[in-house]
Amino acid sequence: MYMDKYIGNKKVIVDGIKEFLEEKGISDGLIIDVFAGTTNVSQYFKQRGFDVISNDVNEFSYVLGKAYLENNEFPSFEKLINESEFSSFVVSEEDLNKDKLYIQRKIEADKIFEEGYYQKINFDQNIEPLLKVLQYLNRISLENLSEEEALFFDYYTVWGSQSTYKSARGTIGKRNYFSEENAKKLGKSLCLIKKWANSNLITDLEKYILLACIIEEVTLNANVNGTFHDFNRSKLYPNAEAKLYFKPIMFNIFDEEKKYIVFREDANELYKKNEFQNIDISESVLYIDPPYNFRQYSAYYHMLNFIAKYCDIDDLLKYAAEFKFVRGQNMDDNFNSRYCYKDKFVRALTELIDDTKSRHVLISYYDENNHWSHGKKEASFEGRDAIINILKNVEGFSYYDKDPSTIKRKNYQSQSGGHKKMIDELLFYARR
Ligand SMILES: C[S@@+](CC[C@H](N)C(=O)[O-])C[C@H]1O[C@@H](n2cnc3c(N)ncnc32)[C@H](O)[C@@H]1O
Repeated sequence: MYMDKYIGNKKVIVDGIKEFLEEKGISDGLIIDVFAGTTNVSQYFKQRGFDVISNDVNEFSYVLGKAYLENNEFPSFEKLINESEFSSFVVSEEDLNKDKLYIQRKIEADKIFEEGYYQKINFDQNIEPLLKVLQYLNRISLENLSEEEALFFDYYTVWGSQSTYKSARGTIGKRNYFSEENAKKLGKSLCLIKKWANSNLITDLEKYILLACIIEEVTLNANVNGTFHDFNRSKLYPNAEAKLYFKPIMFNIFDEEKKYIVFREDANELYKKNEFQNIDISESVLYIDPPYNFRQYSAYYHMLNFIAKYCDIDDLLKYAAEFKFVRGQNMDDNFNSRYCYKDKFVRALTELIDDTKSRHVLISYYDENNHWSHGKKEASFEGRDAIINILKNVEGFSYYDKDPSTIKRKNYQSQSGGHKKMIDELLFYARR
């Protein structure tokens, strides 16, 4: 659970959401996180004993959901470790201990996990198989790469033969997402994971876990300013100069088996899916955290989607040959969300609430930088009014809060860096 800079990430307000729900008398049951993004909200509620359905139209969120939510045990990598080139791989105890210490510190500092979680699930021992596999990838040789293995190097670094872009304004340059070594390591590691998956040396969940480890590291290591809509053009920043080193994810293991289901649908289509219809959602909480301005997540996080989908792409070179724009995205996998258009937002949200018949509806929103306040100096309340109006007009609600509740948080997305001002996160609530 990293990705702190993900646009709209709700990690800092998860306690506030829980308290809010408790005030409404909800302390267990099913929560449907229909715009799950990082899956941080879903993970938090999994840790608090809820059943969880997460959904997001973007592929990388699906991978995170599989690894953090649906998966509820430590992976053994039994087949891979016993039946492949692994049997002769010598593990460095020193690295193993270093990695364990790293993950222990992360878990103890993270508000998602309760005190003593690390010891309770015997993390130290149970994490070893994953640590071994990651160590193998971390020490992989980068000599004599095939064209597929060199894909990230060729398309996404300034040294690559396929990385030239021409911007809409006519500027010509080369994509600069990774250092030479990191791009090679990324390409080679993904190729190996794909090979292991195709030859059934790893299970589906093991594949998703490895991809989640890679996605988390790439968000920290790529030469970007938070999103992949662009990269730092002039140079590699220190985070990108640093060696890419795959680390284990912090598993969310909850000792009682509850229901954890992950979807990758347009939120407005979810209610039509058979698998979804088979779930009793009548008492559930529908948690809605939609995009709130023009920024299309599919374009902003295309690199993570590509990595998430990597093993399912038959012809990777053909896929990469279609990388478009400065950012280098294959537009066949682009998704334009209705929620990112001011004139479509209200209709889309109304339909979603109307079609998905959860008992409780909880909407996250905030006043700044949304469709109504974008570009204005002062925060505008028009967005609030629009949402309250939806709750007023959707049929079947017996109750809705006339005003949103507020949770204060620091604005981590402020571009200026230095001053992180306090802003209000809003929560809207209605009940059927
Ligand atoms: C504000 S973010 C949610 C952040 C999330 N709560 C978190 O804590 O990381 C909105 C999410 O909606 C997703 N999205 C946008 N349009 C969508 C749609 N029509 N259906 C499903 N997901 C969509 C985006 O991929 C993005 O992850």
